[in-house]
Amino acid sequence: MNKTDYFSVKLVNNELVFIDQTLLPFEEKYVTTSNYERIAGAIERLEIRGAPAIGIAAAYALALSQKEFFDPILFQNVYTRLKSTRPTAVNLFWALNRVKAITDNYSTKDFLHNEIFNLLINEAKVIHLEDEEMCRLIGINGLSLFTKKMNVLTHCNTGKLATGGDGTAFSVIKSAFNNNLINHVYADETRPLFQGSRLTAFELHKNEIPFSVLPDSAAASLFSSGKIDIVITGADRISRNGDTANKIGTYNLAVLANYHAVPFYIAAPSSTIDLACNNGSEIPIEQRNKNEVLGIFPENELTKSIAVYNPSFDITPSNLITGIITEKRIFNFPYSF
Ligand code: MRU
Repeated sequence: MNKTDYFSVKLVNNELVFIDQTLLPFEEKYVTTSNYERIAGAIERLEIRGAPAIGIAAAYALALSQKEFFDPILFQNVYTRLKSTRPTAVNLFWALNRVKAITDNYSTKDFLHNEIFNLLINEAKVIHLEDEEMCRLIGINGLSLFTKKMNVLTHCNTGKLATGGDGTAFSVIKSAFNNNLINHVYADETRPLFQGSRLTAFELHKNEIPFSVLPDSAAASLFSSGKIDIVITGADRISRNGDTANKIGTYNLAVLANYHAVPFYIAAPSSTIDLACNNGSEIPIEQRNKNEVLGIFPENELTKSIAVYNPSFDITPSNLITGIITEKRIFNFPYSF
């Protein structure tokens, strides 16, 4: 297997194959299943993660739940179950609704069971292929921001692991690197689950892109050293006015970038834009388990009693975002999609 042949999710013989991201970078273990509950659990536990990737996986899971025969009640239950896995990334709901629309648009009694399954799995495949293409175009569009060899700061993981293609922010970094326009990449470690130091480091290493990992708390000092030319991160949901939900700590970087007059960009496919949300206050933010923060300490009476604030995402106000790189073009503030 080529160094960069790893993938987040893939359909093989009507089963979903996914890499267990909780084990990376120490073990590259692929799980094969067509069980929707296994896939729902994988999304909840972040074995499968990243906004576009969870949408693609959920679309496959919903279709695969109807592999043996089409059962409308089971279909509705699986749809509801998959929707409950994670609340913030809109790609999940967008992808599930696309697969569900197949059964709304056709009168299912007119079809044989396997014909319905074929329609459902086909829609999931199209969602996957479209995401791959959107990643490619985001990489091309983002290239125009590189006027010279630059140092980039990024947050969380936005590469192949998080999407169906080369990534969002990562795709921009990769195309800039391929055009000799990357000097160095700085990757926030991204506490508490270390998507930066585990997953982005894994991907930068595989692509032989020069990088350093930094503790999230070192970002201010890095900005003040004058080493950052541009910040590019991904997104989990972008509201109509451009306010953007992304991994906790993204807002910190936007404030710092603004203070230090460094351009701050979001890279995301159109499937991440939620026109039904007028602004960031309407985006649901996932609160995660306290053990993700305290798990490194042995459990005792004290740690059991400590309350933890552990939001998985924050909202960056649109006025702090210099531009949003999509597969169509780069949008600028004030946003109108
Ligand atoms: O909790 P995660 O790891 O699923 O969060 C992922 C992020 O916040 C990514 O930055 C975002 O999904 C963009 S992925 C291309």
